Amino acid sequence: MANESPHAAGTAPAFAGNHEPRPLPFDPAKLPGLSERLLRSHWENNYCGAVKALNAIEQRLASMLEDAELPPYVYGDIKREELLRTGSVRLHELYFGNLGGDGAAGETMDRILARAFGSFSRWEAEFRRTANALAGGSGWAILAVTSRGELHNYWAWDHTSGAPESHPLLVLDMYEHAYHLDYGAAAARYVDAFMRNVDWDQVRQRLLEATAPRQGDHETWETTWNPG
Ligand SMILES: [Fe+2]
Repeated sequence: MANESPHAAGTAPAFAGNHEPRPLPFDPAKLPGLSERLLRSHWENNYCGAVKALNAIEQRLASMLEDAELPPYVYGDIKREELLRTGSVRLHELYFGNLGGDGAAGETMDRILARAFGSFSRWEAEFRRTANALAGGSGWAILAVTSRGELHNYWAWDHTSGAPESHPLLVLDMYEHAYHLDYGAAAARYVDAFMRNVDWDQVRQRLLEATAPRQGDHETWETTWNPG
């Protein structure tokens, strides 16, 4: 066949299961209001655990695909797990990636959020309210820019419920494992601590990348992709 891949199923990129955890991009002993014990536990147990699970799932998919007798609903169960773990890995990387700053939004982001929400303080009030609405359960509060350049705070009740065609800029983990060691059930105090540690340079960089001109992408894709 013309489009036959040169990879065997188990070694093709989609089934390779070779994701590597990214290290914490800050010193976990130095974040005010978020203890080293909490941050290390979150990174090791929840984030690295999701990376490990995703790798196992991808490899399992390859072997299950070879089984022509496998009922579709069994395959569906593990495809659901693939989506959940993929969301968990990516959202945790974004979460840790937007921590380690001084919590000062700076003039540019202040202006951009004020234009989108009426004022910076209104943006912050809505972001905090979205986060606190998830307390006691689980999920993510996500400031995102849409493909049309609109900014919104989105509520996500699990790792799979991000708004379609939106690019996350600021990601806040509201799963209990993100704060219980330090704050027990006092989730609002954890949100306060998170806001004091936001790396706004990272948020601004994500916005720049999400809205940068895409010229040349098609050419790059065509010239680098070799169907074999
Ligand atoms: Fe988490």
